[in-house]
Parts: sequence; structure tokens; C-alpha cells
Amino acid sequence: MAAGDHFYEVGQGHGLPHDPLLAIIAPRPIAWISSVSATGQANLAPYSYFNVVSNRPPIISFSSVGWKDSIANISETGEFVINMVSRDLLPTMNRTSATFASGIDEAAVAGVEMEASNLVAPRRVAGTPAALECRLLTMVPVCDLRNEPAGCHVVLGQVVGVHIARSCLREGRYDPVAARIVARCGYRGDYVQVQELFELVRPAAP
Ligand SMILES: Cc1cc2nc3c(=O)[nH]c(=O)nc-3n(C[C@H](O)[C@H](O)[C@H](O)COP(=O)(O)O)c2cc1C
Repeated sequence: MAAGDHFYEVGQGHGLPHDPLLAIIAPRPIAWISSVSATGQANLAPYSYFNVVSNRPPIISFSSVGWKDSIANISETGEFVINMVSRDLLPTMNRTSATFASGIDEAAVAGVEMEASNLVAPRRVAGTPAALECRLLTMVPVCDLRNEPAGCHVVLGQVVGVHIARSCLREGRYDPVAARIVARCGYRGDYVQVQELFELVRPAAP
């Protein structure tokens, strides 16, 4: 990086009006996670510390900052669904991110229509561009450089079933532009919508 860049050592503070880190690591896809507790209590909440870690077999990760209802349910039952979020569903998704008591089903409160999944018990959001039915592989409590608990857990899950809305398929390909996919971006309340797709094919070995 050129001299004159704004550099900060994290331990010394960023020196800016707001923490830039999550604006730098953006856009982040949103996993709108539906889960159910051992007693059958349904839950729905968004997680943007989310990505794919392997495609064969398909394995995804997300991180829960704090022990929240989603991770508690997944630790009890080992199943969850990742519902992808379109622009149309964004306001509803946002409503489900409020802190509700654990006995509350966010989907019911936010008026989210749910439908049965094929392979797992948690229901999935109706009308999403895509939904991934997952089974828990592992949950890793994360520690920092001093070996102190970082207060978060990374969850790894294997995708066992995939739903794709037919309206999001273009000539047999899933099209994130047609899906109007949104991602978390920047500071509090910032999002971006996928609007342009271009192709750049990876080169063959020289
Ligand atoms: C777009 C969006 C992304 C979020 N991503 C995360 C995340 O990656 N990890 C996390 O712990 N909380 C995240 N949150 C906050 C949770 O959604 C929130 O704490 C929610 O109440 C958790 O619900 P639960 O206890 O039902 O699981 C996010 C919120 C929003 C709006």
C-alpha cells in the first residue's frame, strides 16, 4: 500500500468516526437461517458472516457472535436451512433480526410465509431465490491471539438439499441478477444488490 494510506494497528483504535472493518470485508452474502429447537420452537434470523468453504461436498460456514437462538437450536437438532435473500424479502428479513425472546418465532411475528423442507425438519422461507437444507458438521468456539474466547462460534454445515426458484434460472444457470440477491455492505443498514454479472474465465495452467 502507498505511503499516506490510513493505517491503524487494531489494538490502538481505527481513528475514524466508525469502525471500517465490516465495510472493508463486504459485500457479504446473507444466510437467513431457519432452525427449530429440540422442543419444536421455530426460529428465523439473518447471518452475514456466512460463506461456502467447500463445493464437493458442499459445505458452508457461518459465525454466531454470542450464543444466540439459531446456534442453540442447531446444536440441539443438527439441522438448519439457509434461505437466500432477494431485494423483495429484504425488509422482512430485517424485521426478523430484532432481538426476540427465545420462545418467539420471528417468522410468525414478521409475517414470513414458510413451507416444508424436503430433508430437514426446519421449514424454509417461501418465495426465496434459493434455499439450502443443511446438516451440522461441527461448531468451533473461536479464540484470539491470547487464547482468550473471542465470543463467537463458527458453524460448519453440509448442504444436503438445494431449492432454486425457476424464475432465477436462465438457460439452466442460477442467475443472481434475476434473483435480485442482496448482500450486507458497509456500515449499519448498508446493503448492495447484485445488478451486473460479467464473465472472466480462470486461465489454464501456463
Ligand atoms: C443482515 C444481518 C446480518 C447479520 N449477521 C450476523 C452474523 O453473521 N452473526 C451474528 O451473530 N449476528 C448477525 N446478525 C444479528 C442477528 O441476526 C441477531 O442477533 C438476531 O437477533 C439473532 O437471532 P437468533 O437469536 O434468533 O438467532 C445480523 C443481522 C442482520 C440484520
